[in-house]
Amino acid sequence: MTGIRCVSFKNKKVLIRVDFNVPITDQGMITDDRRIRSSLPTIQKVIKDGGIAILLTHFGRPKNGYDLRYSLSKLLPTLSSLLQVPIAFVPYCVGAGVKKKIDALEPGSVLLLENVRFHSEELLDDKHFAQELAGLADVYINDAFGTIHRNHVSTSLLPTYFKERYAGYLLQQEIAIVDKLFSKESSPVIAIMGGNKLVDKAKPIEGLIPYVDHILIAGGLTLPFFRAKQALQLSPQLPPIDEQAEVIASRLFDLLMHNSHCQLWLPTDAITAPEMDVEAMVSTLSLTDIPYGTYALDIGPSTQAHFARLILQAKTILWTGPIGIFEWNKCATGTVAIAQAIAKATQQGAYSIVGGGDTAAAIKQIGYENHVSYISTGGGALLAYIAADRKLPSLEALNA
Ligand code: 3PG
Repeated sequence: MTGIRCVSFKNKKVLIRVDFNVPITDQGMITDDRRIRSSLPTIQKVIKDGGIAILLTHFGRPKNGYDLRYSLSKLLPTLSSLLQVPIAFVPYCVGAGVKKKIDALEPGSVLLLENVRFHSEELLDDKHFAQELAGLADVYINDAFGTIHRNHVSTSLLPTYFKERYAGYLLQQEIAIVDKLFSKESSPVIAIMGGNKLVDKAKPIEGLIPYVDHILIAGGLTLPFFRAKQALQLSPQLPPIDEQAEVIASRLFDLLMHNSHCQLWLPTDAITAPEMDVEAMVSTLSLTDIPYGTYALDIGPSTQAHFARLILQAKTILWTGPIGIFEWNKCATGTVAIAQAIAKATQQGAYSIVGGGDTAAAIKQIGYENHVSYISTGGGALLAYIAADRKLPSLEALNA
């Protein structure tokens, strides 16, 4: 992948695929503008060089063409104030009107195209649509790290229509940072995997096993692993769980047996409640003592202390997926303990990476966002990159 640092965009029309898929309230307020801010250096480089920056992004998952709820017009004030330049806007991505608008722009201008997913062709590998988009510009830049796992026209097909195609600053930076996990120089490497669906985390965990020293499991991933482990030891009855998750967990245990250097750690205790309610009385129980029908909402104090000890020995740390229901005070101690341990390890010289919208929101809510080394703009993308052994069509398309 070639970067943009040594390229001049003077008098060039530059199509930049960004990921401005930011969280927004019903009132249209952006609650986290990290993705927009993170792409500013690439956009600024193009306009400072005297090029025209044509921004292309998706926003949400609109189903049937134009839908005001997903219109990028909502992002214009934020984008304009962050870039400190006026932003031109067209309410579609292709056609004579767009070309005319671009031709009328001065060097150094920025144009935002409307949500690319309003065009159903975006998801359909449509060559004609790719050709039309390619006809708008001289150069293509992908700076949409959060979307590298999507095999869509604007990410995987469009770049192949350009002789000049590059990775933007953000994309290059994110890849370089995630690649730290795979470098033996920075071991011990620890991955803290929380969240809910093991089916989504299985491949990334598999991808990490040959490279990391410790995998700490938390959140909704715990039970399938715990159950699979108990089953291996023919131990007591546990609440039933999704069969698929148990099969996945057993397979991962098998893999771990063949990779003796990587250790998987499960919680030993949990903060539990008889019901899924913010007001519910909570109690701490050992994982083996949780009665059927009781909810485990966070990791317990022994697990917190054990995980913190492991984290403090690490040189490289990845944290992705919530540890517990951090939005509820009674169930936030696990998240706080993990964040504190990561912050301390970072202060001692470790490199810490936080990935995923929920994890980023958790670390922000508890006030630790400035105490980690890097918060990725990707969640699914980060995991998919790891799962695919760092080879994704959107990245290959920049190399081809
Ligand atoms: C994301 O938020 O994960 C990316 O922007 C990709 O969005 P998508 O999951 O709707 O493809």
